[in-house]
Amino acid sequence: TELSKIRNFSIVAHIDHGKSTLADRLIQETNTVADRDMKEQLLDSMDIERERGITIKANTVRIDYTADDGQDYVLNLIDTPGHVDFAYEVSRSMRAVEGSLLVVDSTQGVEAQTLANVYQAIDADHEIVPVLNKIDLPATDCDRVAEQIEDVIGIDASGAIRVSAKTGVGIRETLEAVVNELPAPEGNRDAPLKAMLVDSWYDAYLGVIVLVRIVDGVLKKGDKIKMMSNGSTHPVDRIGVFRPEMAAIDELGPGEIGFLTASIKQVRDTRVGDTITHEKHGTTEALPGFKPSQPVVFCGLFPVDNAEFEDLRDAISKLALNDASFSYEMETSAALGFGFRCGFLGLLHLEVIRDRIEREYNIELITTAPSVIYHVHMRDGEMIQLHNPADMPDLTLVDHLEEPRIKATILVPDDYLGDVLKLCQDRRGIQMDLTYAGSRAMVVYDLPLNEVVFDFYDRLKSVTKGYASFDYQMTGYREDRLVKMSILVNDEPVDALSTMVHHDRAEQRGRAMVEKLKDLIPRHMFKIPIQAAIGGRIIARETLAAMRKDVTAKCYGGDATRKRKLLDKQKAGKKKMRQFGKVDIPQEAFINALKMD
Ligand code: GTP
Repeated sequence: TELSKIRNFSIVAHIDHGKSTLADRLIQETNTVADRDMKEQLLDSMDIERERGITIKANTVRIDYTADDGQDYVLNLIDTPGHVDFAYEVSRSMRAVEGSLLVVDSTQGVEAQTLANVYQAIDADHEIVPVLNKIDLPATDCDRVAEQIEDVIGIDASGAIRVSAKTGVGIRETLEAVVNELPAPEGNRDAPLKAMLVDSWYDAYLGVIVLVRIVDGVLKKGDKIKMMSNGSTHPVDRIGVFRPEMAAIDELGPGEIGFLTASIKQVRDTRVGDTITHEKHGTTEALPGFKPSQPVVFCGLFPVDNAEFEDLRDAISKLALNDASFSYEMETSAALGFGFRCGFLGLLHLEVIRDRIEREYNIELITTAPSVIYHVHMRDGEMIQLHNPADMPDLTLVDHLEEPRIKATILVPDDYLGDVLKLCQDRRGIQMDLTYAGSRAMVVYDLPLNEVVFDFYDRLKSVTKGYASFDYQMTGYREDRLVKMSILVNDEPVDALSTMVHHDRAEQRGRAMVEKLKDLIPRHMFKIPIQAAIGGRIIARETLAAMRKDVTAKCYGGDATRKRKLLDKQKAGKKKMRQFGKVDIPQEAFINALKMD
């Protein structure tokens, strides 16, 4: 395809503003997919994404479009994930295209992820076309939202396209804007091959599939390619594009986006951001590199049933083949037995992987407290990266500890600002900035990541009734007074419940945790002390009283179904328990004990 007839673009939006629905409409309007094959949210391929309505893996689709000028164009849309955890995936797919549609829900306005994503687009030098979506809804207010886009983001929104991705209004205008307002790609067909590795994933039938953007030169089937990062070479056995299903084509030229397969064994052998060239007569000049995404949140995953350890190993290694940002290593816990210490990009990533293991592989899991990586500076000058509070070295050998900090941006309606400030303050936040855009406040906080990884986002949603939006970036490490808090149940330490806490909050946290555990652990035939300790010092204590003999006694015999229900419930509860010494602790206790209300 001629360069002047190609447009490559992405759609940036806050979650739920209608990115996937709009993408579906663009595909449908251009008859890329026959109507009968159109299912909702075509680009969200995995079931779990569909259920949660979130897009995780970047997807791409090639659309043929005959514009009002009578010319045929090829439009390549790269779909990008909207959630903060996947910011890195957004940034790398942005580098592969020249423009973006900025979708803003015209009933809501600009949100934190709108900002985070549009700044990435601006960083990637994109031409940006604003699109105001959901104009079919009564609450739509395009003038206000256009003005907000100009005020907050600083781009001209006077010509913003007014769209309903639901009813199809404005879809044709959107396609015309893509053709007329976004730039065509540049590139040289006669130069040596230079292609960007945008993404890669594992397919059960075809093996590793590599998504590429050709910068210069031409890629053909049968070519021998070289990965410039490590010099490995592979014969290309398939080239194609996504329509959105895979369709083979003969070659990919400059400006084009498509896939290749080349009998590459695993996703880990491909480096996102790498430059692909020909083995012979290749380019010597690599594209500017990308930084790999690093896991920032760690937790232990253990099977409820120890006998399922091998199944868990199998599930985890399969998932890791397809997700280079997910890391794991074996872990042994005195309390939980054999399991894995896993690293994730963020909490959502953690939840998605945990759900997939439970659902697709049918393994019940115990998830331990999520933790961040602490830098432990020893007295002898060594620095240890601590991924697991259980591995905290002897305090007498430690000089000081550092923890990761983030810059959090929160947009919230005025009315809830007070609650948001209080929440951030409670989480040891330092206010950096507070500005207004209409009746919405934008606050910027410097927060410790460990105060955010657990339930910050849930709390934020609940104190603002869902009206706040949130985004964050890692900023670096800072020293603070952190201590390891252990939990003892029936005088035995339960390592999987150990957490790192700030010295000044330890007592409060310890008290909250033992109170929670008292409710979460069922009564036994004997009484059970539950304690929180720092080093050898007990900072909080509760006692769980011994059980009354018969759980059904209080049903007064009359109601048989109720009695049965109670017994069934007890049985189901049993299944999800693990034994620690003489005490059974239910699976949910490990996560719920940490929630701070
Ligand atoms: P993620 O993929 O999770 O980032 O969300 P998204 O931005 O892709 O949003 P999605 O397309 O899933 O739309 C979110 C919700 O808004 C869905 O329930 C859509 O049906 C609805 N929606 C999208 N566009 C419109 C519209 O124009 N009008 C109305 N009324 N609803 C819409």
